[in-house]
Amino acid sequence: MDTHLPEPSLPTTILLLGAGELGRELAIASHNLGIRVVAVDRYERAPAMQVAHESEVLSLLDGAALRRVVERFRPSYIIPEMEAIRTETLEELESEGIPVAPSAEATTLTLNREAIRRVVAEEMGIRTPAFAVAESAEELRVLCDETVGYPCMVKSLWTSSGRGQSMVTGPARLEQAWVFAAEETRPGVTPRVLVEEFIDFRGEVTLLAVRERDGKITFLQPIGHRQEFGAYRESWMPAAMDAAELEAATAMSRRILGRLPGPGVFGFEFYLTGTEVIFSELSARPHDTGLVTLCSQDLSQFELHLRALLGLPIPPLRYRTPAASAVILARSDGDVSRYEGVERAFQVETAQVRLFGKPTGYPMRRMGVALANGSSVEEARARALEAAGRVDVRLG
Ligand SMILES: Nc1ncnc2c1ncn2[C@@H]1O[C@H](COP(=O)(O)OP(=O)(O)O)[C@@H](O)[C@H]1O
Ligand SMILES: [Mg+2]
Repeated sequence: MDTHLPEPSLPTTILLLGAGELGRELAIASHNLGIRVVAVDRYERAPAMQVAHESEVLSLLDGAALRRVVERFRPSYIIPEMEAIRTETLEELESEGIPVAPSAEATTLTLNREAIRRVVAEEMGIRTPAFAVAESAEELRVLCDETVGYPCMVKSLWTSSGRGQSMVTGPARLEQAWVFAAEETRPGVTPRVLVEEFIDFRGEVTLLAVRERDGKITFLQPIGHRQEFGAYRESWMPAAMDAAELEAATAMSRRILGRLPGPGVFGFEFYLTGTEVIFSELSARPHDTGLVTLCSQDLSQFELHLRALLGLPIPPLRYRTPAASAVILARSDGDVSRYEGVERAFQVETAQVRLFGKPTGYPMRRMGVALANGSSVEEARARALEAAGRVDVRLG
C-alpha cells in the first residue's frame, strides 16, 4: 500500500501537465467525479483546457513556472499527459508531498527513450530492438555501419507521434536523420539520438495494465494498432494474438511494472514478428491507441487511470463487442473553421465521434477520432475508418 497518497475523498483538484486529447478525456472523467481540473500546456485553448475549470499556458520544461502553478492551485495530484516535462521538478514536488501519477520515478524513466531502454534491455534482459545512442552525426554513422545496420530507425529521445523519427535505409540518409532527431533536443542539452534495429513486424499491440494502490494489476484485452510515419492511425480491440504471445507480453509487462512504482494505467507497446514478441516502449499513463477503450468497455482507460490514482475500487471490466478507433486528420494548415460530414459519419452503424477542439490544424495533425463497434474486429475497423473518412476538418 502506498501510504503517502491521500485517502480517497472527493472532490479534489488535479493538475494535468499537458492538455491534449488524452488530457481532455481525463478532464471529462474527472468532471464526472466532481473533481476540479487545472490544465496546463504551452498553447491556448488546448483540448483539455476547454473542459477544465482553470488553465495556464506555459512551457512544462520550465521548472520554476511549473512550481508556480502548483503553488497557485495546490493540486492533490499531478497527472502528466505529455513528454516535454521538467521531470526534476516533478521529483521535487513529489518529495514535498504532492503525488505524481503514477509516480515521479515512473514518469521520469518512461519519458526518456534511452532511460527506459537501458533499464528494460540492459538491466532486465528483456528483448527490445537492438539500440545505441549517438551524440554526433559521425558517431551515428559509425554505429549504423558497424553495430545496428540498415534499415534502422533514428529517433529523438523525448518526442512522440513520429516527431524527429525517421527510417534510414542506407548511409546516404543518415545526415538528414541526425538533423531531424537532434533538432528536437531540449535547449541547453547535448544532442543525443537513439538509433535502433528496424523490426519487420507482422503486427503491433499495446497492452494496457492498470495497477491499483494495493498493487493489484489488471491487464486489459490487447489492443492492435496501425501507425503511419510513426503516428497513430487506427486501433482495435481485442488484437489477434495467440496465447503464447499474450503470455509473453503479459510476463514482460509485469516484470517492467515491478520497476515502476505507483498506481495508474500503463501502456506497453510490443512488436509481433510471428516468432518473437519484442518490447518497444511504454507510457506510464493512458495511451493514444487506448482511445478505443472509450467504446470497447464499461470503464475507459481514462476512468481507470483516475480510479487507480484516487484509490477508488475497480470492478471486473465488462467488454462490449469488438471495437475500433480511427483518427480524423487535418489535411492543411490553418485555424479550424468547422467540421463537415459529422452527420454522414453518424450514419455509419454504431459510430461515435470525438472531436478534440484543437484551434488550429496542420497536415496530418490528429483532430479527432471516430469510434465504432462490430460483431468482429474487421467490421468495427471498417466502420471506424468509414466514419473517420466522412469527417472533413475545414481550416480557414
Ligand atoms: N524499430 C522499429 N522497427 C519498426 N517500426 C518501428 C520501429 N520504431 C518505431 N517504429 C514504428 O513507429 C511507431 C512509433 O514509434 P515509437 O518508438 O513507438 O515512438 P512514439 O513514442 O512516437 O510512439 C511504432 O509504433 C512503429 O509503428
Ligand atoms: Mg509508441
